[in-house]
Amino acid sequence: MKKLKNYPTKDPVLVTCGLPYASGQMHIGHLRTYIPADVFVRLLKKMRVDVTFVCGSDTHGTPVLTAAEAAGVNPKELYTKYNQHYLDVFPRLNVAFDNYGTTDDPENIARTIQIVKELQKNGYIYPKELDSPYCDNCGRSLPDRYVRGECPHCHADARGDECDQGCGRYLEPGEILNPRCAICGSPTRTITRTHYYFKLSSFEGFLKEYLQNVDGTKIARNYALGWVNEGLKDWCITRDLDWGIKYPGDESLTLYVWVDAPIHYMSSTEEWAKKIKKPDEWKKFWLPGNGRLVHFIGQDIVYHHCLFWPSMLKGSNYNLPFAIVASGMVKIRNHNFSRSRGYVVWILDDYLDKGLDPDYLRYYMVSFTGQTRDLDFSFTSFAEKTNTELVGTLGNFVYRALHFTKKHFDSVPKGTLDSSLKGEVEKAIEVITDAVNEYELKKYTDEILRIASVGNEYFQSNQPWALVKEDKAKCGEVLFNAVALVKALAIFIEPVMPGVAETIWKQLGQKGPDIHKVFLEEALEAPKAGTKIVNPEPVISKIDDDLLESLKIVIDNRIKVAEAAQKGEPVMEEKETISFEDFKKLDLRAGKILKCEKVPKKDKLLELEVDIGSEKRTIITGLADQYKPDELLGMTALFLTNLEPKKIGGIESHGMIIAIEKGDEPGRWLPVRVDGVPPGSKAA
Ligand code: MSP
Ligand code: ZN
Repeated sequence: MKKLKNYPTKDPVLVTCGLPYASGQMHIGHLRTYIPADVFVRLLKKMRVDVTFVCGSDTHGTPVLTAAEAAGVNPKELYTKYNQHYLDVFPRLNVAFDNYGTTDDPENIARTIQIVKELQKNGYIYPKELDSPYCDNCGRSLPDRYVRGECPHCHADARGDECDQGCGRYLEPGEILNPRCAICGSPTRTITRTHYYFKLSSFEGFLKEYLQNVDGTKIARNYALGWVNEGLKDWCITRDLDWGIKYPGDESLTLYVWVDAPIHYMSSTEEWAKKIKKPDEWKKFWLPGNGRLVHFIGQDIVYHHCLFWPSMLKGSNYNLPFAIVASGMVKIRNHNFSRSRGYVVWILDDYLDKGLDPDYLRYYMVSFTGQTRDLDFSFTSFAEKTNTELVGTLGNFVYRALHFTKKHFDSVPKGTLDSSLKGEVEKAIEVITDAVNEYELKKYTDEILRIASVGNEYFQSNQPWALVKEDKAKCGEVLFNAVALVKALAIFIEPVMPGVAETIWKQLGQKGPDIHKVFLEEALEAPKAGTKIVNPEPVISKIDDDLLESLKIVIDNRIKVAEAAQKGEPVMEEKETISFEDFKKLDLRAGKILKCEKVPKKDKLLELEVDIGSEKRTIITGLADQYKPDELLGMTALFLTNLEPKKIGGIESHGMIIAIEKGDEPGRWLPVRVDGVPPGSKAA
């Protein structure tokens, strides 16, 4: 059955993304939500659709609370730090939200209370006694991530509100089998108190019908329908916690994080409306009407978005999601993401801060595999795709066409558009429109690559390098067409590679609207003859072997370190090869420890005064948990003396003692002793 085309549309479209928990840094798994959504938004803009794009940080619930406890700060300090991280990193990925708020914003608190009160008024919330786990050792009740145990459905090890290692189901409080405290590991006892429940079961009929018609990816629909058909339990929406939005009616309880988190989609739209000084503008999406809500999420949160969320909206008389676009999960070596197991790739440390271009990663995330399939990330496949598709096919054609034109004509030559090339561009616009309608963006990036190949074949078969000597007018004709195709490509790639598109646009000497505002059909308009080509240079650069090697080593080591730590074994890290020149830069010398004192109020730090031959140095070391000051005093050991000075525990340290970790005793460090050698003796 051929699907109805929903886009382009005159209706206003609101695109949202699953909110990142502001409890840690952005990783490559997150990008499976944010990149396709941003690409989709930019594509809609290119189709003249009125589209708004909102997101924000998820600041409540046990993910933020447990992270704050681990870091020894209060939850607000923790989320403020990570919210800033997200605000900084999204623009660096060319992800451009119209608003990015937090679930702790006053707008979100007010809207959450309004919706919960509306649900109470409409009879969808009732009180009920609940037996839930309590830890006597930690002295508190254990909601959600504070408890682990066995999934009652698939028997995998699971956390309190989600079977995170197994079947992925949402778990109700009290449902988990053999619970234990996630913090201290103790077995738990049961406490009983009144909680508040949302009558999810009364929405079964509604959901069955709604889910059959909702647009988006089929994994979202089909999983959710499966769960509805198994029968739905009512949903406990309160928690015995201090952090979060108080339950209206009983201030001793807090709303479950999954109540106020999706409501931020609405309040973030309200914040945006205020920002653009049209305070009612959010209503065009959220009040029943023709506004279209499109939610981009990962497969892990389908339950919440397909069951809880539409029912909450229905029960409080708001508009319903038009589409739910769920992606497959990102994995690493076929493992689920897990910080503690080392299966994680960080966006800042492992990618952006290595100087890598965000557009290459955007292209990879969208084109590597279909939207609903799992994506097994590796830097090897990333480099391969970048080097063959982006550099070898796309970049190669753009550079050849512009460079050759610049060299022989300086500006766009006169010509007429070849009808078969024009046909290819028309076809591409059609395929891209289909890709948008199917929420299958790989289809879109594959089409870009196809057009680049068409360009390369056109260039190759017309041999402008031979024509330029024999028939310059004909050569001009060919180059006119090649440049027209470059222009079409610049427009086509903008949604996925906005930065690269800007560069090509400049090289094409385009004045007029910037590339981000150019519509798709302009790909059919050849550039004006006489437009000067500006400094053609390759727009995409290869990922070289050394860089690839070092990226791989970082991930290998992270996994090895984590595996070893879990088994309590010492770690053998594999390090990057360095040159002899680099090694020679190290100034390693014997130093005699003349003084050694504990740094006040710092458990691990010792302040040393070290004679390194030429002078006496202050050096701070972290060995206080293993040695008393007396044990190091008078010792001669190996020191690195040209390490850049660094303040440690408030004192500037000018070097480092070299110590060796005992292979059979992880965490036990022995200074490399060279007793009897005069201070200042050099090591190499
Ligand atoms: N805070 C919730 C979402 C609330 S939405 C009202 C959450 N946060 S998250 O930080 O864990 O994830 C943010 C987004 O990234 C979600 O869309 C989630 O599905 C997605 N992903 C996080 N890790 C992922 C993978 N490893 N793979 C694919 N997407 C995943 O969930
Ligand atoms: Zn399970």
